[in-house]
Amino acid sequence: MRVLSGIQPSGELHLGNYFSMMSKMIRYQSENELFCFIANYHALTTVSNSEVLRRNTFNAVCDFLALGLNPEKSTFWVQSDVPHVTELMWILSSHAGKGLMDRSTSYKDKINQGLKPNMGLYSYPILMAADILLFDTNLVPVGKDQKQHLEMAKDIANKFNNLYGDTLVVPKANIDKETQLIPGIDGQKMSKSYNNTIPIFSSDMVIKKRIMSIVTDNAPINETKSKKTPLFQLYSLFLDEKEKKDLANRYDTPGVRYGDIKIEFYEKIMDYFQPFREKRNKLIKNPDFVFEILNFGAEKAKKVAIEVIERVKNSSGLKYSK
Ligand code: TRP
Repeated sequence: MRVLSGIQPSGELHLGNYFSMMSKMIRYQSENELFCFIANYHALTTVSNSEVLRRNTFNAVCDFLALGLNPEKSTFWVQSDVPHVTELMWILSSHAGKGLMDRSTSYKDKINQGLKPNMGLYSYPILMAADILLFDTNLVPVGKDQKQHLEMAKDIANKFNNLYGDTLVVPKANIDKETQLIPGIDGQKMSKSYNNTIPIFSSDMVIKKRIMSIVTDNAPINETKSKKTPLFQLYSLFLDEKEKKDLANRYDTPGVRYGDIKIEFYEKIMDYFQPFREKRNKLIKNPDFVFEILNFGAEKAKKVAIEVIERVKNSSGLKYSK
């Protein structure tokens, strides 16, 4: 089974990115053929500072490699290194109904957040469809917020196949119910735009400060505590079944102090990510080594991309000579 996913290089990696996407990706590697890329063309729809885009892209690459993405076993690249995707996007654009695009909720959300409406932002779902369809993808594991984009990709692929005969592989979405919502320190969805994240590779001080400001209720010390709270949910992500039960028992017994739990949680996070942090520091210091890995990945990705784009050009009549 070929599994594909992309992540926008949007700055500091946080627990939400890690648990909703990256850790899953890395696990997929063992039993599937994983295609994974850093979506810098997508980032261009909202970032117009070259230095920021370059740095975020490089950092996202190092994050993935440090966390265990294996560039030999999987295919790992930066989106703009395989520009065929923009060619496919144009072809798909001509088969994507405008009405379909008008219904994009993520576009509306972005405009409501104050982003400048540009055509890239508007066509974002078509580029994402091209990402998926260019690699004969079977499965796309995404969060709930990307579900509509997946539906659009399927829609466009079906339309293309109906017109020209079976050409594109129609993908399936895999929306994980368990980890789809990682709460931020204020209890809303963890997201950079809400400024409520717990970054993974920041300094100890920053991480500690974020953890200490996780919202809690004012239940007095001699009362039991609610487990439907962000501290409990976040800490649980790092615990096995037995440890989770122990934590739940402590919440159900009067006497627990949130401050103590927060310190334990902080130590747990630091221990958990320590080996990854060391690996990441090494990569950051060796950009040439990282670029070599990316070249290798782009070459692997291109092999598939070229085959599919040829197929598409053949079916659609863009390839005009025999
Ligand atoms: N839109 C996705 C996000 O913001 C990123 C993305 C781009 C993606 N292309 C993709 C995800 C293709 C899966 C498949 O999270």
